[in-house]
Amino acid sequence: MKSSRPVGFIDSGIGGSTVLSESLALLPNENYVYFSDSANCPYGDKSDEAIIERCDEIISMLIEKYDCKAIVIACNTASAKASAFLRKKYALPIIAIEPAYKMVYDQNPNGFTLVMATKGTLESEKFHKLYYKYNNHKTALIACVGLADIIEQGDKTRLENYLDETLNEYKGKVQNVVLGCTHYPLAIKEIQKVLGNVNFFNGAKGVSRQLKRVLEEKELLNNEQPRGNILFLDSSPSEEIRNEKLELFDTKFIYYFLTSPYFKSFIKMRTEGSVIPHLYQKDFVTLD
Ligand code: DGL
Repeated sequence: MKSSRPVGFIDSGIGGSTVLSESLALLPNENYVYFSDSANCPYGDKSDEAIIERCDEIISMLIEKYDCKAIVIACNTASAKASAFLRKKYALPIIAIEPAYKMVYDQNPNGFTLVMATKGTLESEKFHKLYYKYNNHKTALIACVGLADIIEQGDKTRLENYLDETLNEYKGKVQNVVLGCTHYPLAIKEIQKVLGNVNFFNGAKGVSRQLKRVLEEKELLNNEQPRGNILFLDSSPSEEIRNEKLELFDTKFIYYFLTSPYFKSFIKMRTEGSVIPHLYQKDFVTLD
């Protein structure tokens, strides 16, 4: 089996770039196909059935068209709602992110903790299990309805206003903040502006280490070429939006982690939204 086959990444938009950048730092030789489902973003308030059906479609496409050797669900909401179903259905390794609440338990269990996530993640059975297992009884859960979308739109003023309204009451009272949606690390500075100096907990590094472990175990690490590529796909039917997303992804991605010239030099991206018309023409919202 060719080890240069890509690893597929899935998110409702550009949020998964915060996971991809950690994976890339750990596994720079791998090839990646990143799927941004901006035609259906946000996922946060969609039903379980709708998300399962959509992730199922995306994964079959990533396998059939790109021959992916593993999938990373770089979206907490999709992981919470669909990972169990997808793991049962597909034979390839599926690595799924979850809010880093266990990290709080391991590293600073006595601190007052805020878990920021989508409504879908917080209401999921998967999250409830995690929460009750590691509950420090000093935790507030905030469903940040609309926040991923605001980050996706890239409007800084709206973002600052939203965070100020939502987080202000916790100012000076909170030590730990779990970034339970992969979009939120992109707003870390703005969150800090409201909450001050807090400890951030993010599952992206853990997921990337897990990806590495799984690829090693299954002897799937890419040893066929010195450097990997990233292929960026977006599901929007509009070419203009696809290009905007690519630009946003590129900017955030580079800005977020990859500031070194070494990283910049091997990232080759292109938009290929139009290659999957059956996906972006589907009206996701009416599925349930
Ligand atoms: N980035 C995703 C997450 O981690 C999805 C956010 C959304 O689309 O609502 O939950």
